[in-house]
Amino acid sequence: MQDKTIDETKQGDSLVLENKKENTKKLFIESYGCAMNFSDSEIVASILNDQGFNTTQNLEEADLVLVNTCSIRDKAEQTVRKRLEKYNAVKRDHNPKMKVGVLGCMAERLKEKFLDEEKIVDMVVGPDAYKDLPNLLAEVEAGNDAVNVILSKDETYGDIAPVRLNTNGINALVSITRGCDNMCTFCVVPFTRGRERSRDPQSILGEINELALKGYKEITLLGQNVDSYVWYGGGLKKDFKNASEMEKATATSFSQLLAMVAEAQPGMRVRFSTSNPQDMTEDVFHVMAKYRNICNHVHLPFQSGSDRILKEMNRQHTADEYRALVKRMWEILPNCSISQDIIVGFPGETEQDHQDTLQLMEDIKFTFGYMYKYSERPGTMAARKFEDNIPEATKKRRLTEIVDAQRTHAAYRTQQFVGKTTEVLIEKESKKNPDQWSGRNEQSIGVVFPKGNYKIGDFVKVKIHDCTSATLIGTSTPLSNQEAID
Ligand code: 5AD
Ligand code: SF4
Repeated sequence: MQDKTIDETKQGDSLVLENKKENTKKLFIESYGCAMNFSDSEIVASILNDQGFNTTQNLEEADLVLVNTCSIRDKAEQTVRKRLEKYNAVKRDHNPKMKVGVLGCMAERLKEKFLDEEKIVDMVVGPDAYKDLPNLLAEVEAGNDAVNVILSKDETYGDIAPVRLNTNGINALVSITRGCDNMCTFCVVPFTRGRERSRDPQSILGEINELALKGYKEITLLGQNVDSYVWYGGGLKKDFKNASEMEKATATSFSQLLAMVAEAQPGMRVRFSTSNPQDMTEDVFHVMAKYRNICNHVHLPFQSGSDRILKEMNRQHTADEYRALVKRMWEILPNCSISQDIIVGFPGETEQDHQDTLQLMEDIKFTFGYMYKYSERPGTMAARKFEDNIPEATKKRRLTEIVDAQRTHAAYRTQQFVGKTTEVLIEKESKKNPDQWSGRNEQSIGVVFPKGNYKIGDFVKVKIHDCTSATLIGTSTPLSNQEAID
């Protein structure tokens, strides 16, 4: 069950694989929050790699410590503040020359305030300003504080080849859009990550081809709202009557990008996240049906099952529109799994609204999900318009109820696989049993099975004989029979 909030996840630092021999300075970088932050840290590591920095996993020896931060809920920010205290202690006790920088959403939200509030911080860099890092570092080395929190309308970092951090060499994140224009009233992202913009498809394909050459087997196309991906480009102006005709004729939509990616690397699994009910269109489902290597899984947050709350959240869909979208998805993709994000305790949420959320969960029976208590974010429309008036105990109880419901639905979904064979990409050794591999099937359900002669990165047909609510337990089919099942 993936009911743990994502801001509790953490990536310590990095792998040495792409470090350069001639580099002498040491960078310790850690990331909190969404996958986009993890992907951004790989861009930052790449920019600093060219500035003489190799990554280290040892905080005490770092010349530069960077923390890529999340502002989505208050708890995420508290976690980062604790880490800053830790860096402070290490700097004081072991490494007085160490410099500390704050990246990402908290940097953007708090800006210069960071330098006043947290004496330890030398540098504050917003999500669109990473290319300015060399100049900011020069400022810091000259003994000055350095801040760049300017948001951009066109920065996509499409020209930077990320240094893969903490990688298993199998799964990689590929960013396709940045920012979000949806303005859900509870969400700080439009303020911290700015306007929506899409990356040139050629640079996306270039990155994916490069990953394939290095042996990667699965990519996840990333964006706050992947369905709003659109690239206007290509074509010669003289072939068209005017600029807008050219833009329309040459635009690449998300479903077209997905098809291009799937076709470019048929041996690679393709995933994408996050989808948005109001922007997702049926053509995406048809492309998923057409290409075998696009995984049958959609992460489709719905936040609340109450139309009244959805309206106050400024979500541009009703609960029934969500149901209809999922129904259409299952007509086209009967085996597609679906996961959710839900917020409980939004201002004014009544017991009936909460029941509506439970009802929508019951109707869909999500494979897994991420569930949160509403956390008021300063500056958002919800913070300005509504009082955060649901008592903490009520939020807690409602969260427990939806987490319990999700567990039941997840168990129902995993049970459907018992007795069946499912294809698994091996990602790592099972944490619980070193004799077993752990991977995921295309529905993004975790699968464990005895190692046999397989290795990380293999695609294996696994016969499922048991399950928990989050994991399928199976046995691999012998190598010689693998193709026969196909
Ligand atoms: N409080 C609680 N959860 C939030 N999310 C976004 N903003 C907030 C907030 N203010 C959740 C939404 C979103 C996910 C990434 O985080 O469910 O889909
Ligand atoms: Fe936030 Fe809504 Fe954009 Fe998601 S779609 S990042 S919840 S504003």
